Amino acid sequence: MVDIHCHFLPSMDDGAPDETASAEMLEIAARCGTADLVATPHADTQYRFDPEAVEAALAAARSRAPEGLKLHRGCDFHLMHDNVRDALAEPGKYTVNGGRYLLVELSDLVIFENTGEVFDQLESAGMTVIVTHPERNPLLRQRIELLAQWVACGRLMQLTAGSLLGLWGRKAHDFSRLMLDRGLAHFVASDGHDPRARQPRLDHGRDWLNRHKSQELAHLLTEAHPRAVIDNRPIDLSGFPPKPAASKPWFGRIFGRPRPD
Ligand SMILES: [Fe+2]
Repeated sequence: MVDIHCHFLPSMDDGAPDETASAEMLEIAARCGTADLVATPHADTQYRFDPEAVEAALAAARSRAPEGLKLHRGCDFHLMHDNVRDALAEPGKYTVNGGRYLLVELSDLVIFENTGEVFDQLESAGMTVIVTHPERNPLLRQRIELLAQWVACGRLMQLTAGSLLGLWGRKAHDFSRLMLDRGLAHFVASDGHDPRARQPRLDHGRDWLNRHKSQELAHLLTEAHPRAVIDNRPIDLSGFPPKPAASKPWFGRIFGRPRPD
């Protein structure tokens, strides 16, 4: 699996507090089936994003990562004026592996009317917007049609694995289900912050999708789509969301039934 959203770099933001916690997070991710993990330190009013510091921390983390776990560079990009101006000047600074995909977190307090226009600007500069965990944002939970409109314009949506399990509360869980039912969710990521309460685990999210949706959707959201992100490839959304296999009509189900012996 590929996890595109995780705060495992030590002392960079509110994620891993130190190297020990960071190493523990990498162990957990690898043990739970993650093969590729993207470091996404915050870029917001509290935490300044310094790509050189991120690269240096990544190099150190790679040296202590379990074998087989690949680490990538990304950013938890908060949509605010200074960030947008900076990203337009230098798009590869914030995108995953310097490619086209940008993880964008919106404010919990206000969704500006011109948000779609800001997305337009980022897209004009070659970036593809991935909105992070809309199911945890109380304002976006009121605006499913706005999310649908954004998706129709080519923006992508990332759910949190823990939301599927109910770890973020009933509202986030129900809204995740609604987004899945409407084909508005393209990724599941951990948004891991520590080795205890917010672990970097995708396996239970994948298992939930297997159980409640389909293996095909689980594969797309935890492997195929996020892999395209780290490889900087376009994502084929024709035929998405996958439709369940057509069931027989009711008379076929009744009259087509084998006779009991
Ligand atoms: Fe995050």
